[in-house]
Amino acid sequence: MEDERIVTAHLMMEDQAVEYSLRPRYLAEYIGQSQVKDNMKIYIEAAKMRREPLDHVLLYGPPGLGKTTLSNIIANELGVHIRTTSGPAIERPGDLAAILSNLQENDVLFIDEIHRLHRTVEEVLYPAMEDFALDFIIGKGPSARSVRLDLPKFTLIGATTRAGLLSAPLRDRFGVVSRLEYYTEDELAFIVTRTAEIFGVGVVGEASREIARRSRGTPRIANRLLKRVRDHAQVRGDGMITEEVASDALERIQVDPMGLDSIDHKMLRAMILNYGGRPVGLDTIAASIGEESQTIEDVYEPYLMQIGFLQRTPRGRVATSAAYKHLGLPIPESKG
Ligand SMILES: Nc1ncnc2c1ncn2[C@@H]1O[C@H](COP(=O)(O)OP(=O)(O)OP(=O)(O)O)[C@@H](O)[C@H]1O
Ligand SMILES: [Mg+2]
Repeated sequence: MEDERIVTAHLMMEDQAVEYSLRPRYLAEYIGQSQVKDNMKIYIEAAKMRREPLDHVLLYGPPGLGKTTLSNIIANELGVHIRTTSGPAIERPGDLAAILSNLQENDVLFIDEIHRLHRTVEEVLYPAMEDFALDFIIGKGPSARSVRLDLPKFTLIGATTRAGLLSAPLRDRFGVVSRLEYYTEDELAFIVTRTAEIFGVGVVGEASREIARRSRGTPRIANRLLKRVRDHAQVRGDGMITEEVASDALERIQVDPMGLDSIDHKMLRAMILNYGGRPVGLDTIAASIGEESQTIEDVYEPYLMQIGFLQRTPRGRVATSAAYKHLGLPIPESKG
């Protein structure tokens, strides 16, 4: 269900065709995330001057904020190849060993969803990250001995939406650990304008802001909403996206002015109306809207907490007075 939502931050089928053409290629085109970007610029420059690989980088944060994009940009700015794989795709230690030994000096190895690496595979990574080496055990029993094989020097870039699930030894081996943040309205408006240019569609006045406001701080959602709005503008108007066309289209596809959709509404209303605004357990919320607890925790909650509509307490989740206000429900006295 989550992956059918128009406001899901996850990659949808319909995004795939355009995602590639929309990806910025250089740091200068990568909007926002200024702190991460400024630091990265220096590390990249320094690595290039020393002709050494960049330190291993861990990028974490909610889906759709630009982890994969930034990883590709880093390799591009370094002027090296990037080899892309993902945690669950590497099944055996030997698979990883093969990938590592095929890298060229200073290349980037990008492992997406790195929290899903198998433990046995992860162990191959430790000496590879630390000493650029693979350790093998040859033989069996008392005659067994360990052999070391040198690898080309490389940079590992790991991306994850769940940094908390990374094992400590793995996490500690990254020299640079950066958290990507939700984007501001200004930044998203800029991204919408840039994407509109690539699509060759006119976005005038405050239309880009109207779309930005409803994009849940997430570039992937901003781009997707723009595409939907463009369809509406073409079919119902002259193709030009004005603020009115944008808000009308977004109303029709049920994305409200804060970017909430019908499922967010359902969830908040259930918490308020069925439980009187008292703390509700995650599993209870999940059951009341027919969604998995994990999905609520990873996808719905982070944004609702970000905009101050939901709080996590030791006794459960609570809808804040801001949420009551947004839904037009009377705020109980206990919430002041
Ligand atoms: N800083 C940015 N500036 C402009 N566009 C961006 C930026 N970050 C992301 N995008 C756009 O958003 C899309 C999604 O970004 P990306 O795939 O890098 O996210 P992600 O964090 O890797 O997501 P996931 O967790 O699902 O893998 C990109 O195709 C790109 O068009
Ligand atoms: Mg990604």
